[in-house]
Order: sequence, then C-alpha cells, then structure tokens
Amino acid sequence: MIFGALNEQSIAWKVAERAVEEGAEIVLTNTAVSIRMGTINQLADKCNAIVIPADASSVADLENLIDKTMEHFGGKFDFMLHSIGMSPNVRKGVPYDDLNYDFLSKTLDISAISFHKAMKVARAKDAINDWGSIVALSYQAAQRTVCEYGDMADAKALLESIARSFGYILGREKKIRVNTVSQSPTMTTAGSGVKGLGDLLGYAERMSPLGNASADDCADYIMTLFSDYTRKVTMQNLFHDGGFSSTGISHEIIDIYFKGTADERK
Ligand SMILES: NC(=O)c1ccc[n+]([C@@H]2O[C@H](COP(=O)([O-])OP(=O)(O)OC[C@H]3O[C@@H](n4cnc5c(N)ncnc54)[C@H](O)[C@@H]3O)[C@@H](O)[C@H]2O)c1
Repeated sequence: MIFGALNEQSIAWKVAERAVEEGAEIVLTNTAVSIRMGTINQLADKCNAIVIPADASSVADLENLIDKTMEHFGGKFDFMLHSIGMSPNVRKGVPYDDLNYDFLSKTLDISAISFHKAMKVARAKDAINDWGSIVALSYQAAQRTVCEYGDMADAKALLESIARSFGYILGREKKIRVNTVSQSPTMTTAGSGVKGLGDLLGYAERMSPLGNASADDCADYIMTLFSDYTRKVTMQNLFHDGGFSSTGISHEIIDIYFKGTADERK
C-alpha cells in the first residue's frame, strides 16, 4: 500500500514504479483532491494498480482503505509506505515564532499522527503479514533546525517517535518492522513548499560527500527495506542523504564561503 503519489516528481511515485518492477502488486492512495489535481491515475495504469481515495487523517477513510485493499488482495499485504507531508503554516508563510495553532494541529495530524492512525487501523484489521515492513519518509530537520522548515520539523520529530513506539508493538506481536527514511531535500511539490528549496538543495549537495539522494535513489533504498534482506532492522530513523547528516563542513562549502587571507587558508 503506497500513500502519497501526487505526480511524477513524488517520492511515492518512484517507489511505486520500483516496487512493481520488483514484482510487487500495489494499491495506491491519496486524498480525493490530490487524485483530481495530480496524475496518480496515470501511475495506476502503468502499475496495473487500483487507486483508493483516503484522507490519511481520517480514521473512517483509513478503515475503508484497509478493507478495500484487503478485498483487492484477497487478504493481508506485505508493506506500507507513508509518504505524506503538509503544513498550512509553511504553505502560507507563517513564521515559526508566530505559529497558527489550528494550522499546527493540521500539520501534526496530516504529517505525523496519520502514520499512527494508519498503523492502528492496519493492526486492528490484522492487515499486514508477519515479517512485513512499514516505512515513512522523514527529514533531518527532526534533529537539527533548518530555517524555513517551520512546524514540519516538529511533525517529523513526532513521526520518527511514532515509528519507534509503534515499531516496538508491531515487532513484538507480528515481527513487522517500522522505520523512517530521512531523505535529502528533493524537488517535489511538497519540497517546493519550503521557501528557498533551490538553495537548500545546492547547500546539501555541496555538504554531502556522495551528493544529494534523488527520489529514484530513495525508491531503490526503500526496496531494500521492503525486502527480506532487512528483516531485523526496525524502529530506526535511517539517513538517506549522501552523508549530509554526518558532515560538519565540506571542502565545497569552504571553497564557496571562505573569505579569509591566503595565510589563514593554509
Ligand atoms: N521533497 C523533499 O525535499 C523531502 C525531503 C525529505 C522528506 N520528504 C517527505 O517525503 C514525503 C513525500 O513528499 P514528496 O516530497 O514526495 O512530495 P509530494 O507533494 O509529491 O507528496 C506529498 C503527498 O502528501 C499527500 N497528502 C497531503 N495531505 C494528505 C492527507 N490528508 N491524506 C493523504 N495524503 C495527503 C499529497 O497529496 C501528496 O501526494 C513527505 O513526508 C515529505 O515530508 C520530502
């Protein structure tokens, strides 16, 4: 089950294509509005998949989604991707020190608590096979402040915490693993909502010894997490960022920003 493919740029889109290439059968889901505004139906045709509308913050929608998915597969399924993010504060340019709290509730509900809801409903309906795998997408602003990322940073911190807390429960009960993948900045619709994404991409590219990870790279990585090769990896936040998160300063950044004298530079 793959949440969050809006258009060809979406990380979920690339994951869906890769999973089908690897032989998976998938169900796609997104909100009714995103299905209308985006191009998910083209992806569904290409992947021979069905699309079931669901607002991931609505438990009733999620119940319907899981029921229909199980009907479609004739039983349980093996993996779930949560690739959902939305902040009305970021979208409307509300600064972090003046957050609109109704918006904040929406941000947290859609971008993080929906992950809890999806797992809660899937567990109640016993929808996921033993040794299955659940992955959500995160960003390193959960650990370190990134200007302009606003309340999405709080949502990502909560998302990663939910992965650990629910991962413990699903691991003990069903050997199902739950991880988050902390992805490089990526040019997508959600990504472009962050002011200055182009600069962020350039900075991250120069800071990462391997360069930024693309959406295609992310899809490849997620295949390993859906495969049996990672059966004992759970409750982790896994950085998929070309080394960015472990780099303090790089030559490329020094070359661009260092303004000292030749003596100082020795
Ligand atoms: N693009 C980046 O720079 C970047 C970096 C790290 C992590 N991520 C994360 O990757 C994930 C996917 O984002 P993307 O970059 O592919 O952008 P995207 O805009 O293609 O995907 C975001 C998806 O969230 C869906 N969504 C929004 N509200 C929803 C709701 N109420 N119910 C169900 N779905 C809803 C949208 O319809 C859309 O399909 C997000 O969690 C995002 O935070 C993105």
